[in-house]
Amino acid sequence: MTAEAARVREANSETIAKAATLLQAGGLVAFPTETVYGLGADAGDDRAVAKIFAAKARPRFNPLIAHFPDAEAAATETLFDVRAERLAAACWPGPLTLVLPRRPGCRISSLCSAGLETQAVRVPDQRIAQDLLRAVARPLAAPSANRSGRISPTTAQAVADELDGAVDLILDGGPCRVGLESSVLDLTGERPRLLRPGGLPLERLADVLGELPEAPKAGAPFASPGLLESHYAPDTEMRLDVGEAAPDEGLLAFGPAVPSGAAMTLNLSPNGDLTEAAANLFAYLRRLDAAGLQSIAVMPIPDRGLGRAIRDRLRRAAAPRPEDRRLDRPL
Ligand code: TXA
Ligand code: MG
Repeated sequence: MTAEAARVREANSETIAKAATLLQAGGLVAFPTETVYGLGADAGDDRAVAKIFAAKARPRFNPLIAHFPDAEAAATETLFDVRAERLAAACWPGPLTLVLPRRPGCRISSLCSAGLETQAVRVPDQRIAQDLLRAVARPLAAPSANRSGRISPTTAQAVADELDGAVDLILDGGPCRVGLESSVLDLTGERPRLLRPGGLPLERLADVLGELPEAPKAGAPFASPGLLESHYAPDTEMRLDVGEAAPDEGLLAFGPAVPSGAAMTLNLSPNGDLTEAAANLFAYLRRLDAAGLQSIAVMPIPDRGLGRAIRDRLRRAAAPRPEDRRLDRPL
């Protein structure tokens, strides 16, 4: 067993209690949520939150989501308006993050909000995450448990591959059900703004809000500090919306009509089911990336429901990598 494999533990009442003790002492614990695995720390502990940024090599200007067991707990640190209350009632627990004003006297570390007046909050819909939050009895700051700019992990092994020795414990709860990060909705302005399409479809948000949230345009100056154009990046180059693949390419397929001839083909959903495709996306990208192929060709994904978030992640994965990417990564 390697050193990092030794940190992975199956989640049960004993390992969750151990994780809670580590977190209360300022440690870092990776845990499963319904979206992706998170790298958790006590959100009120500056030093613990600082360790998250170091472990991920994440720029300090990119704020973190605070996780709570329920909306009541989130409302003790942030200000809910009517829209937030309605969304929380309809969509929490679930893959939705709300960006809200911090309450005066908010106990969440200002490192967690990167010095902003706003705080992103979320209530995960996953039993292990819920048990852990209740056992710790403090909000947990938790970004996706990958190195900055890389593909989010949807299994405990992917966390171990990403974060080596930087984490005290990895709770293994199996593969994540949704497989895409939460949708991030900014409610601090007059109109709700979708900062990141994610596991909760835009159509559902519009339904609950009674209006369509504003969406940042591709390439616009980023509204969310985390919306860097190159993100979720595999090492292998990517080609999107292809109809055929070359013999030295990997093919990320979708639907029943798959072109032949690729060196390796993984089908996100042979039936064309977007929920299944979302759940498979990051794990399949990791497998294709590990195969050492010339490039990864990706078939078209429909631009509706979860397809929007899948397309967003693929577009970022294929975006040119800025030169300074290397500065964000451990050497
Ligand atoms: O599904 C998820 O959201 C996962 C699980 C672990 O909960 N977490 C996650 O966190 O994806 P992270 O840090 O990888 O992405 C959070 C996104 C980033 O794009 C960040 O810039 C944005 O939320 N964000 C956080 N706080 C913000 C704030 N106060 N204002 C605007 N954007 C914010
Ligand atoms: Mg992330």
